[in-house]
Amino acid sequence: MPRNIDDTSDEGSSLRSLLLVGLAFAAGYLFGRGSGNERESAVGVATEDEGTTVDEGTTADVTDGEGAVETTEDRADAESQGPETEAVDEPDVSEIVADVEIDEAVAALSAPTDRGMPMLGLGTYDMDDYGECFQSVLTALEMGYRHVDTAQGYDNEEAVGDAIAASDVPREDVFVATKVSPDNLAYDHVIQSTEASLERLGLDYVDLLYVHWPTGEYEPQDTLEAFAELRDEGLIEEIGVSNFTVDLLEEAVDVAPEPIFADQVEMHPMLPQEDLREFCAQDDVDVELVAYSPVARGAVDDVEALQDVAEKHDATPAQVALAWLREQGVTAIPKASSREHLRENWLSLDVELDEDDVAAVDDVGRTERLVDPDAAPWNE
Ligand SMILES: NC(=O)c1ccc[n+]([C@@H]2O[C@H](COP(=O)([O-])OP(=O)(O)OC[C@H]3O[C@@H](n4cnc5c(N)ncnc54)[C@H](OP(=O)(O)O)[C@@H]3O)[C@@H](O)[C@H]2O)c1
Repeated sequence: MPRNIDDTSDEGSSLRSLLLVGLAFAAGYLFGRGSGNERESAVGVATEDEGTTVDEGTTADVTDGEGAVETTEDRADAESQGPETEAVDEPDVSEIVADVEIDEAVAALSAPTDRGMPMLGLGTYDMDDYGECFQSVLTALEMGYRHVDTAQGYDNEEAVGDAIAASDVPREDVFVATKVSPDNLAYDHVIQSTEASLERLGLDYVDLLYVHWPTGEYEPQDTLEAFAELRDEGLIEEIGVSNFTVDLLEEAVDVAPEPIFADQVEMHPMLPQEDLREFCAQDDVDVELVAYSPVARGAVDDVEALQDVAEKHDATPAQVALAWLREQGVTAIPKASSREHLRENWLSLDVELDEDDVAAVDDVGRTERLVDPDAAPWNE
């Protein structure tokens, strides 16, 4: 539910947030979490953008970044070494506090839910800086966001979990999704790496766990049996897949011992995913679509048809893109690190498109992928 704006005067909010942030960092250090930079150097995990390799003998794989690669982490190293506790790169707490302000327009809105999943969430790809991620997630939760999307490969599960713990939103009111990396998709690796994700997040369960890409160690039967096992144990609520084409999704639905809840794919007005939408809507499939890169990383701003609809509604093209996804019954998880974008995307909940608007966006008629690595299933 939206916050009561009476409770969120700037001063009160700032003081409370300062306390919460201080507590979060204290807790982080007490439990040996530390900063993102520190963790990265301690376990030697390759970042998605850099595409660096720590285990030369293993294969490079797909990632969320355009043209970049996610490489195999050195599992043995990661398991044997704990995070370092020296050289803490402490974020600027005053900046974090300054971003937590709620106005009346923001507080008035809440995202509709689809089978328990809030249809507007926050993406966190490319937020591997602890302070930036912590701030964005905390600000988003304060604004009313109740769905946060992370992944093992984003190197930010600690920051996401700490922000959830630091916010005054009860954990059970937040829909938390993470993803298992392609190198962790063998049965045992799914179990072990998910337990490690939960530890980093500081949570007993996640609401949704995705197969990040159907590559690497992905074997439909084995992988999805491990996901079902996690669900039976109560460590995950729902099973998801990501970057699955219709064929791969059909196979997954067929072999999975438990229902597939969602397929997270790139979707925006320049990549409308008609085939997947049609397939997922079938009664015997019934899979939710979650749109990543829903504002096409800002490129929606330059599309004339979106500008026209935006002008009509006194909105922005990004808000129109998000409202259009909602009209299709698709959940969107725009990433925003700036308060302005967080707010703009949240206010898209107030934009209601009519049939003509939806048709105008449908007519954009482009098929352009931003995330298109060679190893992606649609390139095989
Ligand atoms: N499953 C997968 O393989 C996969 C792949 C890609 C992404 N994802 C998930 O989906 C999330 C979203 O996708 P994405 O990060 O690729 O792309 P996106 O959400 O479409 O775009 C994020 C970028 O656009 C900017 N932006 C945000 N709101 C905007 C607005 N209203 N107007 C103009 N620019 C805006 C952000 O800027 P600022 O940060 O400066 O505010 C950021 O640079 C990811 O963060 C991740 O959680 C999953």
